[in-house]
Amino acid sequence: MIVFDQENRIFTLHTLNTTYQMKADRYHMLLHTYYGSRIDDCDLSSLIRCEGRSFSPNPDEAGSNRDYSLDVMPQEYSTCGVGDFRLPSIELELPNGSHTADLRYEGFRLEKGKYTLEGLPGFYCAGDEAETLVILLKDFAAQVTVELYYGVFEAVDLITRAVRVVNQGREKVRICRCESLCLDFLRSDLDMITFNGHHLMERCLDRGPLRPGIQSVGSVRGTSSHQHNPFVMLCDRDADEDMGLCYGVMLLYSGNFEAAVECSQYENSRLVMGIHPYHFCWTLNSGEAFTAPEAAMVCSTGGFGQMSRQYHRAIRAHLIRDPYNGRRKPVLVNNWEATYFDFTADSLVGIAREAAALGIELFVMDDGWFGSRNDDNSGLGDWQVNQKKLPGGLKALVPRIKALGMKFGIWMEPEMVNEDSDLYRAHPDWVLHVPGRAPSRGRGQLVLDFSREDVRDCIYGQMKEVLASAEISYIKWDMNRSLTDVWSAGLPARQQGEVYHRYVLGVYDLLERLHHDYPHILIEGCCGGGGRFDGGMLYYTPQIWCSDDSDAIDRLRIQYGTSFCYPVCTMGAHVSAVPNEQNGRVTPLKTRGIVAMSGAFGYEMDLGKCTAEEKREIGSQVESFKTHYELLHHGDYYRLGSPFQDNAYTAWEQVSPDRREAIVNVVLGCTHAAPPFRTLRLKGLHPAYQYQIDGSDALYSGETLMKAGYPLPQMQGDYPAFQFCLKAVG
Ligand code: GLA
Repeated sequence: MIVFDQENRIFTLHTLNTTYQMKADRYHMLLHTYYGSRIDDCDLSSLIRCEGRSFSPNPDEAGSNRDYSLDVMPQEYSTCGVGDFRLPSIELELPNGSHTADLRYEGFRLEKGKYTLEGLPGFYCAGDEAETLVILLKDFAAQVTVELYYGVFEAVDLITRAVRVVNQGREKVRICRCESLCLDFLRSDLDMITFNGHHLMERCLDRGPLRPGIQSVGSVRGTSSHQHNPFVMLCDRDADEDMGLCYGVMLLYSGNFEAAVECSQYENSRLVMGIHPYHFCWTLNSGEAFTAPEAAMVCSTGGFGQMSRQYHRAIRAHLIRDPYNGRRKPVLVNNWEATYFDFTADSLVGIAREAAALGIELFVMDDGWFGSRNDDNSGLGDWQVNQKKLPGGLKALVPRIKALGMKFGIWMEPEMVNEDSDLYRAHPDWVLHVPGRAPSRGRGQLVLDFSREDVRDCIYGQMKEVLASAEISYIKWDMNRSLTDVWSAGLPARQQGEVYHRYVLGVYDLLERLHHDYPHILIEGCCGGGGRFDGGMLYYTPQIWCSDDSDAIDRLRIQYGTSFCYPVCTMGAHVSAVPNEQNGRVTPLKTRGIVAMSGAFGYEMDLGKCTAEEKREIGSQVESFKTHYELLHHGDYYRLGSPFQDNAYTAWEQVSPDRREAIVNVVLGCTHAAPPFRTLRLKGLHPAYQYQIDGSDALYSGETLMKAGYPLPQMQGDYPAFQFCLKAVG
């Protein structure tokens, strides 16, 4: 609900459990007054106190009033060069060379439903599930308007934000920074939580107190990156899974980003998040507009768990698009770790045949099927079937897979090219490169200039031919290097600061075309695993390969960190062979199955090499996944034990919305002789319900299971795991 108090010019956004407020003050500055637990019928501007502070300048309108300074008051969208020395939200270069921005409140409008952003991903709603507030700010000297967009999703406690800058003047201006969100707090006794890592170990949680000065994470790799995720949290120092105030902020963007928090001199703090200012400079001609990507905020008063469940609900219902929001996605088998580049049509059909017999529904042919691709040095850019490897092409192969009752999926890496390819030989200028400088290679490949429409059209044309040649139900859209040598032959020198962003817009453009033309095709995002796992990609690709590390024990950490923002159904997770290809670890098949099932589930191994007993076990895993799919993927997610803190076990639980069913998953990190007896306290159950566990006669009340716990069985061997189901009776 959006409430406007006209007399005091106060805007209050209420969701079910939270309130967000701002006020246009007497000098037309837009101040941020509050974000937190819901307060009805409130004017929270009295929380903002002013007192003269040396070296904090006063705007002209304040006259002799030295108490009023932008430098100490919480701003809704901070400016620069005019009296607030903290992190700016916007920086404009005006025709006279100045780098200032001075924004004053000019008006607002309310819209039904949720705004959309042209060419950019965003949360969406049906009908009146959301409302929009647009606040207009203006820099009168620059003749630039800044529109602040707010999407209020009341039922799921989510507020989205975006910013549109319009040049209403006659001369061009340059935008050097344009954050998607600014969030000021009248306190700095907060912890910052970020999700960091590297290729093969993404999104590991890090937590630490805010310190004076600026703390930030970000990416200048052209992708949102393996190293830092565009999702960050701020929380009470003592907040934990179950209690405390915490804020989550996610950026729906797949390129360079920065999330920075400044803890300022008077113990206030400011979080800004948006496109990374490195090499970002956008020229805005007279009459043109620039739109910064969307950010989405959640505030929880019930700790991290509640915040995660709010994000999960919102992402499932309002970000993942039809037809995959809510629909079960097929269990897949992928041949990558089974064959790498070394396969034939017969060996692929062999894997598919074994898989089909075990209930697996989709066969995915990974890298190596096209051009001259027999290793990772050639072929990217030539999206035609390698007839030597696959005689008769997809026309011959796909019907063989379909005859097994399976769907067919294919791997592609549309943004890349190898120098050893027909595409590169014909169009060497189509890659990102700086004239006079030999571009760096990554995995032996160069990056196509996706900021250019002609380049995208050519790739899309090739993709369409592939899709027309056979019935294809799934595409794995991969992207296997960071961007370097970012310069485009398609833009003049003064616009080169637009290339990183135009590249991302180009990727979104092609993904949108695919979604529009082939809505039934399931696209799985991938970037050397989880190097582009963000809300932007999820709008186009309902699942993303979580990590190239498929080891179940490493995956506990990766999937745990990922779960803070992103729901289980988005995390591509496969059972692979042991010893694991990435770290050599041997884990039981059962453990691998339990971990992968809490993800977009599949297998990535040569099932023909499994023993009869292993095949039986895989068959029953697939069956169990299908039976419990609704609970596993759409249940409310509870973290019960962290793989970072407790070496003894990692546990998590999914509970049905009506709390009548739950599934509990436990993996032991290490086993000892004569181990202690442990109990596991469950969460999210109905205290008064009586639950039956795995169909046995004994009944436990929800209260008992949550307060006293469930006795964990003693387990032996390396990395054992178990899963049990609870059902309320009566
Ligand atoms: C990336 C992906 C893998 C696989 C290979 C193929 O590394 O993350 O899953 O598809 O590329 O080259």
